[in-house]
Amino acid sequence: MKPEIVKVNHLNAAYESDQVLHDISFSARQGDITVILGASGCGKTTLLKHLIRLYLPLSGTIELFEQEITSMDEPEFDALLRRVGVLFQGGALLNSISVAENIAIPLEQHTDLPAEVKDRLVRAKLRLVELDNAQHKLPAELSGGMRKRAALARSIILDPSLLFCDEPSAGLDPIMTTALDRLLLKLRDELGMSMVIVTHAVPSIERIADKCIFMDEGVIYFDGTLAEAKGCGVEKIERFFKEG
Ligand SMILES: Nc1ncnc2c1ncn2[C@@H]1O[C@H](COP(=O)(O)OP(=O)(O)OP(=O)(O)O)[C@@H](O)[C@H]1O
Ligand SMILES: [Mg+2]
Repeated sequence: MKPEIVKVNHLNAAYESDQVLHDISFSARQGDITVILGASGCGKTTLLKHLIRLYLPLSGTIELFEQEITSMDEPEFDALLRRVGVLFQGGALLNSISVAENIAIPLEQHTDLPAEVKDRLVRAKLRLVELDNAQHKLPAELSGGMRKRAALARSIILDPSLLFCDEPSAGLDPIMTTALDRLLLKLRDELGMSMVIVTHAVPSIERIADKCIFMDEGVIYFDGTLAEAKGCGVEKIERFFKEG
């Protein structure tokens, strides 16, 4: 069995008095793409934000790389976070600087590498996401799919072994979604990256998911492989796959 790179145990979370996550437990294994699904407002983004400690839970534990993060001190957590890439819902790029400069931001923040090394790393990632020719462009000069790929390049510039993506294909047409999925599979298969991805898109889930976690109103009601999800007999899940 591959190691559990993310392990959440009995997580309860709230915004002020409003409890949003209820007794959430699941794990994601190394080298897998784990997909989180569920209706708008059920708590998917809230869950991802807890996984990177933007919020602390009411109770429960969260382990990344087999280390408990909720009680870790700041410097220790910052060091661990260097190994995690995050592509947020919306994935905003800074509009006043070029694509290459956007992608270099984490290198500027977290490393003291010489400028030419940073340039080389940025160019390698631009190639990986097939934006070689867009490095000098401003984000506003890119298509939606290109902006997503640029944001993805920025989220993996430090070569994370774990990537969290929130709705990476939102707003993309089916062709762009397919291209983005191919890129995510490449990151998994060629770089061994583990991923936890929130998405609604059924075709995308069918292409990329090793494992599916279904949420509803802050609760997990199914957790298993894609094949298990499709044959699980839970009406809501079968309807989800049928209706898309
Ligand atoms: N910063 C916040 N402060 C207070 N309540 C919040 C905050 N962010 C989210 N919520 C509430 O928490 C619940 C879960 O929101 P969340 O963003 O996690 O849902 P989601 O599953 O990601 O939805 P979507 O699919 O629309 O992105 C919602 O009821 C939302 O109103
Ligand atoms: Mg969300």
